[in-house]
This record gives sequence, C-alpha cells and structure tokens, in this order.
Amino acid sequence: MAVNEVPQQEVSLNELEPILEGFKGEKWALIPLLQQVQEKYGYIPPETIEPIARSLRLFPSEVQGVVTFYSQFYTTPRGRNIIRVCRGTACHVRGSGSVLKILKQNLEVEPGETTLDLNYTLETVACLGACFLAPTMMVNREYYGKLAPPRVMSVLKQYAPSKKEKGHGEG
Ligand code: FES
Repeated sequence: MAVNEVPQQEVSLNELEPILEGFKGEKWALIPLLQQVQEKYGYIPPETIEPIARSLRLFPSEVQGVVTFYSQFYTTPRGRNIIRVCRGTACHVRGSGSVLKILKQNLEVEPGETTLDLNYTLETVACLGACFLAPTMMVNREYYGKLAPPRVMSVLKQYAPSKKEKGHGEG
C-alpha cells in the first residue's frame, strides 16, 4: 500500500504563518510562496490552500489552479529519496522492465507513488539522458547504470532508512 492510498495525516499550519507573513497581499508572489511551502512540507498540503489564498487576496480556486498547472508542485507527500526509472527505448531494450518490476515488488508501490514510511517515491521518466548506461535509473541526483536486479537491490539498500529514522522505542 502506498501513502497516496491512505488518509493523509493532519498537517501543522504553525509553520505556514511565517511564510505567509513574508508575502502578505502580494498576489504576484504566489509561485515563490508555493515554492517555500513545498520546501517546508515536501508538498503542498491541501489545507494550506485556503490560508494562502486569504493571505494573497486570491480565490482558493486560483491557488489550486496554479498548484495543479505547474508540475513542479506536488499535492501528495514525497519520499525522502526519489527513484526515477528510465522507460526510454534504449533502456527498454536492455531490460528496464525488470528494473521497474523489482522496484515495484520491493517497495510495494506503483510509479507515481510513495512508500508508507515516506522513504521512497518511485517514478518513471521518458529518458534520463544517459542512454549509454542503459538500463538507467536515478536516485535523487545520482545515476546508476547497466543495471541488473542484484545491482538494483544493492542500490536500494544504500538508501534504506537508518535504524534511528525507522523508529522509536527500538533497541
Ligand atoms: S533511454 Fe534511458 S537514459 Fe535514455
């Protein structure tokens, strides 16, 4: 099950106030304001739309329209690590299908989804611009090429949540 499928946790709006303060009444500032909100929360939580609109004297539908229009804005939580698997032709003929399959099986998410522990978001892209490394994937800003299933698993392990992050009360 992915985070996109479960009810989202409530978001604290306390952190929103200082961001809004910086742009009060400045309609032009919607995009930089949204960028700061996304930096803070990792995405644009739906409950921030109304306060943002009020603060800039816009309609909530106008704010929502911009969030939906620009692909730089995310409306669901994102993982700490973004995995991008290439589905371009060069990668496809060299086995990107099995790279994607092993990631889907291990993370239990589909492309576009985030794992419940918010550690990974899985995405596919048309070409990563490193076809000579096919099949290629990226994790955050790092490229990984000439992938086979064991290598995919060892890359995944590098980004596994540390024990400290995993949890409370363990050990
Ligand atoms: S086709 Fe995969 S990197 Fe270009």
